[in-house]
Parts: sequence; structure tokens; C-alpha cells
Amino acid sequence: MIMTKYTDWHSHILPGIDDGSQHRQDSIEALQAALECGIGRIVATPHFYPHKNSVDRFLERRNNSYDHLMRKVVSLELTGLPEIRKGAEVLLCGGLDNMEGYEKLCIEGTNIMMVELPFVESEHTDEMFETVYRLINDSKISVIMVHPHRYSDRSVMRMLDLGAMLQLNAGDVTSLSGRGRAKKYIEMGKVCCIGTDFHRDVKVFEKYRKAMRTFGDRLAVKDPSFSLDVIKDDLK
Ligand SMILES: [Fe+2]
Repeated sequence: MIMTKYTDWHSHILPGIDDGSQHRQDSIEALQAALECGIGRIVATPHFYPHKNSVDRFLERRNNSYDHLMRKVVSLELTGLPEIRKGAEVLLCGGLDNMEGYEKLCIEGTNIMMVELPFVESEHTDEMFETVYRLINDSKISVIMVHPHRYSDRSVMRMLDLGAMLQLNAGDVTSLSGRGRAKKYIEMGKVCCIGTDFHRDVKVFEKYRKAMRTFGDRLAVKDPSFSLDVIKDDLK
């Protein structure tokens, strides 16, 4: 029996919904690879692009993908695979909180929203940061900024000043070029979780295990007592 103690907080494992896994069989192989690396729970974070989808349409597509995958798991009589919690990787934009049902983009059963920033720094506008302020202070949403390594330190610090926490990608944590920055954020006490950001390469699960072995006990919310309920309480 494999000891499963970890939660992978960032994964494009739901099939056919974004640029991640395309087929159910690929998702199942990824679930098995994750299990072998000690992962017992995966937060599925398909991309949510506010300019492309309504919230309800996104949730409908996400549920369909999840149900489609689960039917395959059941038909193959697979048991013991990591549990999937449905979430989203939300692309931040100014006025996101004006979208109908935006709060449903939180990880199901929590008030945690995983957000990414626009790829282009010039789109990190004051309006976008003001939206983060309102999400945290008015909507009482715990904002977790994903893969901060993709952005300037200035934008990361602005998010932290507003009260966001960070999710690091295992690939960044374990890379020579990314390790220093990862350590800095961890030592600041601002990293609450690590994820694989799995798209199609199952090697990320081994990197995740390595990252958790090195840094797992130094996260702001610790594994193995790391559960969605724990983090929900901790980030309130
Ligand atoms: Fe992602």
C-alpha cells in the first residue's frame, strides 16, 4: 500500500477542457503516476479565461469533464486513485468580481481562489490589483497566486502586500534557476502550497515529491496535515 500524504494543488488533469490532458486514458495514467509519488489528493485547476467563458459555462464544462473521467475510472474498476477536487486557474482581470457567479470559481467547498496574472507585465494594471483587494477584503476570498516565478518580483510583492499567498510549481522549486526565488518566498512565510501544474508530462510528479521532501515542512501550511479544510481555516 502506498502512503499518500500530499496534495497537488495545481493540475490540468481533467481531460479535454484546456491545454492539459486531452484523453481520459492520459488522465488515468497521470493519476496512477501521482499516486506512486505519494499524492492522495489533486486540485484540478483548468484554465478559466474571463474573456472567453461565462462562469456557469465553465463550470458546466468542468463538471462534464470530471464526470466523463470518473465514468472511465469506475468502468475500469480502479480504486485508490487520488481524489480530485474541482477548482480553477483563474486569469485575473480588472473587474473579475463583476462577473456573475465569480465566487463559484473557488475550489469547491472552500473560499480559496487560485489566480494567475496576465503573462504580459504591462497588463498588471492598478485596476487588476484593486480587484484583488476587493476579492480579499470585500468578498472574503483567500487568493492564492499560482506560479509566481512567471512574473516580476514587483508584481509578486504587490500581490503579497494585498494579502495573497503563493503556490509554487514543483518544476520551479527543483530547478537551479528557480530554487533561490522559491526559498525566498518560503522564508517569507508566504508559500502555502506546491503543485505540479501537470499538463501532459508525468515526470512532474517525481519533481513534486522531491520538492515536498525538501520544503514540505517549511510551508506556511504544512503537509502531511495538509488538507483543504486545514488550509481553509488557516487562510481565514
Ligand atoms: Fe496551470
